Amino acid sequence: MYRVLYPLRTYLIISGNKEKANIMTADWVVPLSFKPFLLGVAISPKRFSHGLIEKYKEFVVAVPSVEMLKDVWIAGTRSGYEKLKEMNITFVDSKKVSTPSIAEALANIECKLINKIKTGDHDFFIGEVVNVSYDKEFFEKGKPNIKKKPLAHIGENEFVSFEEKIYKA
Ligand SMILES: Cc1cc2nc3c(=O)[nH]c(=O)nc-3n(C[C@H](O)[C@H](O)[C@H](O)COP(=O)(O)O)c2cc1C
Repeated sequence: MYRVLYPLRTYLIISGNKEKANIMTADWVVPLSFKPFLLGVAISPKRFSHGLIEKYKEFVVAVPSVEMLKDVWIAGTRSGYEKLKEMNITFVDSKKVSTPSIAEALANIECKLINKIKTGDHDFFIGEVVNVSYDKEFFEKGKPNIKKKPLAHIGENEFVSFEEKIYKA
């Protein structure tokens, strides 16, 4: 029944450090505060990424486009470093954390872990955002450009992006 909340935007969570990093897919990502700028991510303790975030106390939330769907699917269906060999992503240094960012992503949000709350079968990791980098064509004049096709999840292996029509309230 939780699927009535969908479509939800889909993200990539990078964990680990410069030497070795992992990527998992996550839909359950939510902004929590402007000042400080906080971001929450619900991650099951079953995920390999869970332990890496606990260990390094930082993570990066990357914003994928529809073009990255194949990698998003691999990151979300396989566990651990081995999957990276099948993926076509380029790690680049982040500005403020040692966990790398993803060059192909529309944006990379660098977070330092400030809290972890046990919520149920997932843990809620709260990160303080210390840097945001983005593709200038995606984020123009403070607004996302939906023509760059940020990815959203319907369920199972089905995803959507947004129609180009904007409805004004
Ligand atoms: C579209 C999609 C969204 C997902 N969202 C989440 C999520 O929000 N939280 C979570 O714990 N797992 C989520 N998963 C599952 C993990 O991405 C998956 O278990 C992954 O293999 C974990 O990788 P790891 O073990 O290398 O960390 C999602 C999977 C997919 C395909």
